[in-house]
Amino acid sequence: MTNTIAIGIQWGDEGKGKIVDLLAPKMDVVARFQGGPNAGHTLVIGDQKTVLNHIPSGILHANILSLIGNGTVVDPFRLVEELDMLIAAGIPVAERLRISDRCQLILPYHRALDAAREVAKGEAKIGTTGRGIGPCYEDKTARRGIRLVDLNADDLDARIDENLRYVNFMLVEFLGAEAVSKAAVVEALDLARERLLPLAADVPLILHENIKAGKNILYEGAQGSMLDVDHGTYPFVTSSNTVAGAALAGLGVGPEQVDEVLGICKAYTTRVGSGPFPTELYNADGMEDASGQHMAEKGQEFGATTGRPRRTGWFDAVVVQHAVRINGVTGLAITKLDVLDGLEEVKLCVGYEHHGRRLQSIPACAKALSECVPVYETLAGWSENTFGLTDVNKLPEAAKKLLQRIEEVCGSPVKMLSTGPDRDHICHL
Ligand code: GDP
Ligand code: IMO
Ligand code: MG
Repeated sequence: MTNTIAIGIQWGDEGKGKIVDLLAPKMDVVARFQGGPNAGHTLVIGDQKTVLNHIPSGILHANILSLIGNGTVVDPFRLVEELDMLIAAGIPVAERLRISDRCQLILPYHRALDAAREVAKGEAKIGTTGRGIGPCYEDKTARRGIRLVDLNADDLDARIDENLRYVNFMLVEFLGAEAVSKAAVVEALDLARERLLPLAADVPLILHENIKAGKNILYEGAQGSMLDVDHGTYPFVTSSNTVAGAALAGLGVGPEQVDEVLGICKAYTTRVGSGPFPTELYNADGMEDASGQHMAEKGQEFGATTGRPRRTGWFDAVVVQHAVRINGVTGLAITKLDVLDGLEEVKLCVGYEHHGRRLQSIPACAKALSECVPVYETLAGWSENTFGLTDVNKLPEAAKKLLQRIEEVCGSPVKMLSTGPDRDHICHL
C-alpha cells in the first residue's frame, strides 16, 4: 500500500497537477481535501493542456475514482463548467467523480464579499483569486454555510433569506458595494441541485471501503504550505489548512492510512498575490532582476486560474525546511529544474537575517518576515539543456550539485524531478 499525500510546499503553483497526474496510474483513488476554484492545476499530455480547479488531477485516467472531500469549497457555476469541459473532451466524468455531500457551496454573495473586501482594503489587499474562498470558509466556521446535502433541506429558503439579510447589510452598508439578489443565489442552488447533487456521496464511506480492500489513495493538496491559514504568511494566506494534516480532516480518514507525504516544490520560488517573499527578485510591479526575469519568462509564470503574473525568486530552503517539519514530508518532488537552464549561477537561501540576528526558521509575523534578508549560498549554474530529461544520470554536474544541496539543507530526499510540463518529462530518483 502506498497511500500518499501530495502537497505544495511553497506558495502554490508548484506543479501539483502534473505530479498527481503522473502518479495517478499507480493509484485507485485520487482525492482533493481542501481549497476550491482558487486552485488551478495544469496537466499537459502532448499538445493537450487541461487546467483543473476543483476536480482531482487523476480524472483523465480510466479506472481511477476521483473524490472531492468535505474540506473543499465548491462553486456550482465553475464546477459545472469544469465538468462540461471534461465531457466535451470525451472524459466520462460522471462515472469517475464523486463529491462529498458535506461540501460547502460557494454562492454569489461569497464572490461579491471577496471582491468588495479587497477593494476596501486598497493597498493592504491580500490579492485573493476573487473566487469567494475566504467568505465561504468563514460561513462554514460560523455554521451558516450551505452544503451540498442542504439543497433539499426544508429550511433552505429561510436560511438563504437570513444569509442574504446579513451579507447584503455588509455589502451595502459596510463596504459600499451592490447587494446580491436572491435570484442569483437561487440560480446557483438550482444548478447545484441539477448537476452536482447526482454526484454527491458519502466520501468517508467510499474511502474506508477502498482502504479496506487494499487500494491505493492519493491525496491531492491545493495551494501550498506558505498559504496555510495557520502555518503560512498570515494574513496573506488562503482560508483553509493546506498542510498534510488537512488531508485527514478534509476527507474523513485516519492518520494510520497515510504512508508517504510528497512535498512538491519548484527549483526556485514563485508567489502570486500580496505578502512577504524574502527571496523575491522580480515582479510585475517594477522589481527588476535578470535571473528573476529569466524564471518568469522561461517558466511562463502566469497564474493558471487568474492569469496574473507570478512574482519570482530563488529557492528558499528556510521555507522548505519549515514545510518539511509541519507536513512530515518523506520526500521531495522538484519541478521546473529546466527553467534554471542557462543561468550562470543559482542561489539557495539557507537562512534569514533579521535586524542583524540570524534566524533559522520562519517568523510568525508577516511584517518580520518581510524585513528578513536572505542568507544565500551561491552555486554554479549550467548551460546545458535539461528540458524533457528522463535520466537523472544525464543531468549536468552543476544541476546534480544543486539537488544534493537541496536534499542536505532541507533534510529530505529528492524522489522525483520534473524537467518539463509534459507527463513524460520526469526523472524518478
Ligand atoms: P499547480 O497549481 O501546483 O498544479 O501548478 P500550476 O499548474 O498552477 O503551475 C505549474 C505550471 O508549470 C504549469 O503551467 C505546468 O504545466 C508547468 N510545469 C509543471 N512542471 C514543470 C516543469 O518541470 N518544467 C516546466 N517548464 N514547466 C512545468
Ligand atoms: P494552486 O492550487 C497560488 C493565493 C492568492 C492569494 C491568497 C488568498 O493552483 O497552487 P484566496 O483566493 O485563496 O483567498 O487567495 O492565496 N492563492 C494561490 N496562489 N496557487 C494557488 O492554488 C492559490 N490559491 C490561492 O493568490 O495570495
Ligand atoms: Mg496552480
